[in-house]
Amino acid sequence: MKIDGRDTRTIWLERDRESVGIIDQTLLPHQFATVRLQTIEDAAHAIRSMQVRGAPLIGATAAYGVWLALRADASDENLERACAVLLATRPTAINLKWALDEMTASVRNRPRAERAAAALRRAGEICEEDVAINLAIGRHGMKLIEDAVARKNGTRVNVLTHCNAGWLATVDVGTALAPVYLAHDNGVQVHVFADETRPRNQGASLTAWELGRHGVPHTVIADNTGGRLMQHGQVDLVIVGADRVTAQGDVCNKIGTYLKALAAADNKVPFYVGLPSPTIDFAISDGLSEIPIEQRGPDEVARVAGKAEDGRIMSVQVVPDGSAVANYGFDVTPARLVTGLITERGVIAASRDGITRAFPERAGNRDKMML
Ligand code: MRU
Repeated sequence: MKIDGRDTRTIWLERDRESVGIIDQTLLPHQFATVRLQTIEDAAHAIRSMQVRGAPLIGATAAYGVWLALRADASDENLERACAVLLATRPTAINLKWALDEMTASVRNRPRAERAAAALRRAGEICEEDVAINLAIGRHGMKLIEDAVARKNGTRVNVLTHCNAGWLATVDVGTALAPVYLAHDNGVQVHVFADETRPRNQGASLTAWELGRHGVPHTVIADNTGGRLMQHGQVDLVIVGADRVTAQGDVCNKIGTYLKALAAADNKVPFYVGLPSPTIDFAISDGLSEIPIEQRGPDEVARVAGKAEDGRIMSVQVVPDGSAVANYGFDVTPARLVTGLITERGVIAASRDGITRAFPERAGNRDKMML
């Protein structure tokens, strides 16, 4: 995507070819700053502290993290240690494990002297693959938006999205927002309702920022507003991203997604999920019982960060001293509430059959998964 006219990705190999650049997303939308990752510890910290976030970008960062580790020490022990450290950073997004499996496979049977170069190559490929996949998701999903425009006799289509599954959550282009960007770029009238997405407000801070930078009309809404908008016919389709999708099509995504799916079902609003195939966990079926849900620190709920009137960035407490706080990062939307999965191979049913037909080679391979 372009920032101030310059093509920008969320992660890149620096010119010195010894470090990796990222955008520090904890500072957005008020400050744009980049960070240089030089060690595996830097990469693990970037994921843990959410300088980078979003399932595909977490995977890409972990891939470069393995390279940074092997540059320092290419032994089997260090490879294992690096994968364990990175895997422990964020438990829910399966793209992390997928990327570590890919990296391990690319170096395991090579002599130590070749491992760092092979890891760098594979990390770069993972990034390029992510961009190609997201463009394909965009092409398939754009058709859904065009169909909605046709149903509305050419008037503007309203898409509701939750959290941030745009280009900031990926290497580039985005997953849920890819169809929106492609539609917008092709002159289709599309407007986005962006859920603010408490507690971290990725919708208000990141989705609104990137849509605005690209010139896509959008409105930020409080999380509880979507149901009302749907009851009044103001949402034509919901498109969200995913952090993990099971073999039977259950969708794990940012906390609050499930409530939007319920409201969509009650109001007959199509509910789509944009995802790249590395987000599918073929090893599990029942999302509710089998997906580990990250529980995060209380401050994200108890406090809100933002820009004060004098321009200072500050964090303020919004709950009384002493109140207990719970902070679940994700929830699971059962497959029955999902109209379709927008993947790089087309829009498919959120069912075991739909997923297996679209990705037979991975569905059949699940017993071979490593780590
Ligand atoms: O906790 P985050 O910010 O890493 O959560 C990721 C998300 O933004 C979403 O859940 C997203 O919809 C899936 S990632 C494309």
